[in-house]
Amino acid sequence: MEGSSSLLDAEAVADLVLLDPLTEESLVQTLRERFRRRDIYTYIGNVVISVNPYQSLPIYTPEKVEEYRNCSFFAVKPHIYAIADDAYRSLRDRDRDQCILITGESGAGKTEASKLVMSYVAAVSSKGEEVNKVKEQLLQSNPVLEAFGNAKTVRNDNSSRFGKYMDIEFDFKGEPLGGVISNYLLEKSRIVRHVKGERNFHIFYQLLAGASPQLLQQLKLRQDCGHYGYLNREGSSLPGMDDAANFHAMQDAMRVIGFSPAEVTELLEVTAVVLKLGNVQLSSSFQASGMEACSISDPQELREVCELIGLEPGALERALCSRTVKARDETVLTSLTVPQGYYGRDALAKNIYSRLFDWLVNRINASIQVKSDKQRKVMGVLDIYGFEIFQDNGFEQFIINYCNEKLQQIFILMTLKEEQEEYVREGIQWTPVEFFDNSIICNLIENSTTGILAMLDEECLRPGVVNEDTFLTKLNQLLATHKHYESKETQNARRVTDASLPPRCFRIHHYAGKVTYNVTGFIEKNNDLLFRDLSQAMWAARHALLRSLFPEGDPQKVSLKLPPTAGFQFKLSVALLMKNLYSKNPNYIRCIKPNDTKSAMVFTPELVLAQARYLGLMENVRVRRAGYAFRQLYGPFLQRYKMLNPRTWPRWDRGDREGTEVLLAGLEFPAEELAFGHTKIFIRSPRTLFDLERQRQERVAQLVTLIQKMFRGWRCRTQYQLMRKSQILISAWFRGHRQMNRYKQMKRSALILQAYARGWKSRRLLRELKSQCRRQAAATTIAAHWRGYQARRTYRKYFRSSASTCLANFIYRRLVHRYLVGLAKNLPPLSVMDRTWPPAPYRFLDNTNQELKNIFYRWKCKKYRDQLPASRRAQLQARLCASELFKDKKTLYPKSLQQPFRGEYLGLKQNPKYQKLHAVAKDKLVMADTVRKVNRASGKTVPRLLLLTTEHLVLADPKAAQPKTVLSLSDIHGVSVTRFSDGFLALHLKEVSTGAKGDFLLLSEHLIELVTRLHQTFEATTGQALPLHITDRFSTRFPKGDVSITVVESPKASTNGPVCKKKGSNKMEVLVH
Ligand SMILES: Nc1ncnc2c1ncn2[C@@H]1O[C@H](COP(=O)(O)OP(=O)(O)O)[C@@H](O)[C@H]1O
Ligand SMILES: [Mg+2]
Repeated sequence: MEGSSSLLDAEAVADLVLLDPLTEESLVQTLRERFRRRDIYTYIGNVVISVNPYQSLPIYTPEKVEEYRNCSFFAVKPHIYAIADDAYRSLRDRDRDQCILITGESGAGKTEASKLVMSYVAAVSSKGEEVNKVKEQLLQSNPVLEAFGNAKTVRNDNSSRFGKYMDIEFDFKGEPLGGVISNYLLEKSRIVRHVKGERNFHIFYQLLAGASPQLLQQLKLRQDCGHYGYLNREGSSLPGMDDAANFHAMQDAMRVIGFSPAEVTELLEVTAVVLKLGNVQLSSSFQASGMEACSISDPQELREVCELIGLEPGALERALCSRTVKARDETVLTSLTVPQGYYGRDALAKNIYSRLFDWLVNRINASIQVKSDKQRKVMGVLDIYGFEIFQDNGFEQFIINYCNEKLQQIFILMTLKEEQEEYVREGIQWTPVEFFDNSIICNLIENSTTGILAMLDEECLRPGVVNEDTFLTKLNQLLATHKHYESKETQNARRVTDASLPPRCFRIHHYAGKVTYNVTGFIEKNNDLLFRDLSQAMWAARHALLRSLFPEGDPQKVSLKLPPTAGFQFKLSVALLMKNLYSKNPNYIRCIKPNDTKSAMVFTPELVLAQARYLGLMENVRVRRAGYAFRQLYGPFLQRYKMLNPRTWPRWDRGDREGTEVLLAGLEFPAEELAFGHTKIFIRSPRTLFDLERQRQERVAQLVTLIQKMFRGWRCRTQYQLMRKSQILISAWFRGHRQMNRYKQMKRSALILQAYARGWKSRRLLRELKSQCRRQAAATTIAAHWRGYQARRTYRKYFRSSASTCLANFIYRRLVHRYLVGLAKNLPPLSVMDRTWPPAPYRFLDNTNQELKNIFYRWKCKKYRDQLPASRRAQLQARLCASELFKDKKTLYPKSLQQPFRGEYLGLKQNPKYQKLHAVAKDKLVMADTVRKVNRASGKTVPRLLLLTTEHLVLADPKAAQPKTVLSLSDIHGVSVTRFSDGFLALHLKEVSTGAKGDFLLLSEHLIELVTRLHQTFEATTGQALPLHITDRFSTRFPKGDVSITVVESPKASTNGPVCKKKGSNKMEVLVH
């Protein structure tokens, strides 16, 4: 929308066709206003006018590329991208080869424009590894060619000093496949000479600034530019141009394009040779004959050159200083004068360089050429040197301007003349527009008989004295009356005095202005001669690349034919170029230079007006206004747009014109927008065409959607059918499988049920049969018994009624017999300790067996006892008695089992001290021991000797060994002891004997033995058992009254047995442990 609004902005219309009023002033004013607004691009229809901004503008970003991509030409601001897009789309979609013609003066921005077009096409065409490689190679050809073919001129710091036409080739999808570059006339004179303030070709400066020290050494160069005669010694570097960086960029670009490192080295070597040739100095000398000759003044440089190219220095020196002349059959070596020598040297340097440049272009072409033979579409981009008017114009300017003249002719032919002629041809109503047709100028230069170039060639080939003066005279003669030709002489003839036209000059009124050419050097440059000796010397060099540049140096191929002249060659290549351009659809970019000082934002109206005039912009606008923007044959038009009308879509059977009319009638465009020619349809404004195109795009999108829809529907349907079939198959299989499983399950279950049922039935039957059997057996048994009973009853009377008892007795006896006999054979051992006895074999023998066991045991014991000695028996009896008395009653008892019952502890017999006591006891002594007697009053104890005889119990004083107390056993009433493990005993006496002292309380260490023996003896003496009380509480009788004694268990063990404590008058506590 931005674009369309500026399109209608009256002050700065985007399309000059809309200019009102249309005057030269308003045109320049509009360009100026737009330039001020930094809108450097303006349209005239589909021609783009570009005004060089001399500053970088932010309008070439990737976002901008996206904006212009596939957009409608007039919907966005004018831009070089728009025309590039239009051309690219036309190529891709309409299958028409395109060419983009970029014209303008030197420094107007042509080369920049061509790069922008290329980069845009590269950005919008499809991507892919292969395609990207091709694009990259195409784009990278620019830095390489610019390094070798561009130089700083007064007008432009980066001026192309050669013409370039590049065909970019695409496949049917619009993907770049490759390209071909053609170069035109390199300005080789620059190698040896350039105007003050200009520079030689960039490569020399780049090489010296950017090469590494090793490379420089390898090339035998010095970094200092001032050292080299061919280079600009004052201003070798340019502001804003980094030669070193550019050198590296160029090397990278070469790598991308596919140059091998060896090729790059060779290329740089030849470049170095050119540079060094400029330093080969000559000096004059005289031969013996007195003739002037020249020689190399400093052989060092020459030697280095020869080392670089692999040539013997003498050979090159010979070639530089002398010349072989063939006269009839002889060859004569003539030496050259110093100027001739320099001429030869410079010619060699120029030739080497220009041939090297051609080689470079061919080498790039070899890399980028299309390898496949697919059908291709071509987009040509022409960036050729612009029109040049200098102070001093030479042969180069003449050639360059001739080329521009031809390009202008194309423009005129295609946009003005051709177009207008076409309207007439097609029978369209048309008012002719006046314009300047420059074919007369072209004719002046290129006419094959009277043209300036033809005459120059003639002069060059003519034998005899030939120089520029004869050439000029000839021109003056032939072209004296030509409107566009002037010279001093023709002016004189017309009596015009023009101080600006010096002698030895001629002037041509070019379409872009009058240019005065100085004829000096015309012949020489046209001839472009190189002494054969030099080309032969080059061919003789071992350097492969250099050698290949001079094929004519091969002595085998010497031809006497003169090579074609430079002018002739150029004319030929321009004619070829024109033919090429005519075959394509042209797109114009007309570059305008806004000022002469390369300054940003400076607009010099006079300068722009001059350019606008000679570019024919006014005429262009006029024709455009009156004419039609678009035309096409009815056939292709109908073919392209027939889908826009249901009547013509999908098929139209009648004529193309009729079809086009029907088609457009349906679209309701205003009548003045369309014109129907004899063979073509004409559409006036691009807007209508864009509308048509937009509608087509929409319709195509609809149709595509329809086709897609149908296809997708079909695909989904078939897919669905397939899935359905598969699904049915799967479910059939699945169901089958499931049913089979279910059937198997049921079969298994049925079998199990059957098995159970059958089992159950069989078991029932079996049970039935078994019970039947049992019943039968029972019935049989009952019957047997019954019969038996009946028989016995019947036959009882015939037997003794006691027969059964008799039998039973017999059987019993027999069993008993067997039992007893068996027992006798298997009697258990006779050890008393062994209590085993075989069990009874029958139950009825249990009691008997038990009885026999007891008898046997007792018998064993008796036998044991019988064989025991009497003392042992008495001891055992005493033990038995002790056990009966104390076992489980007194805790002292278990301890006493370890102690043997010694009876005699005192040793009465042996100890004479106890003689008296021994006498008392005599033979009746049962036991003698020491005891302690408890004092009745205090509870204290005193030791006493105790003697037990069969009749008495004697207590004696241990010291005196005299009996103190003698008790008859029959006086003893009873004995009391405690339950505990102490040796305390109370000896209760009968009342009769207590007259004196009462009961005794004693402590014995052999209490169990004492009491047992007392008991035994008492029983033996009195025939009665001795009453023994095992108790905790008892009373004793003493003369002073009864004392009740309580036995108390003390938790502490006392050392000397029990302790008796008197508690009050009639209570005593015995603390035992
Ligand atoms: N579109 C542009 N934007 C910015 N600067 C430009 C543009 N076109 C040209 N220039 C400037 O102008 C100079 C000359 O342009 P160039 O294309 O080399 O001219 P020509 O090829 O017509 O002789 C460039 O070096 C650049 O500085
Ligand atoms: Mg250029």
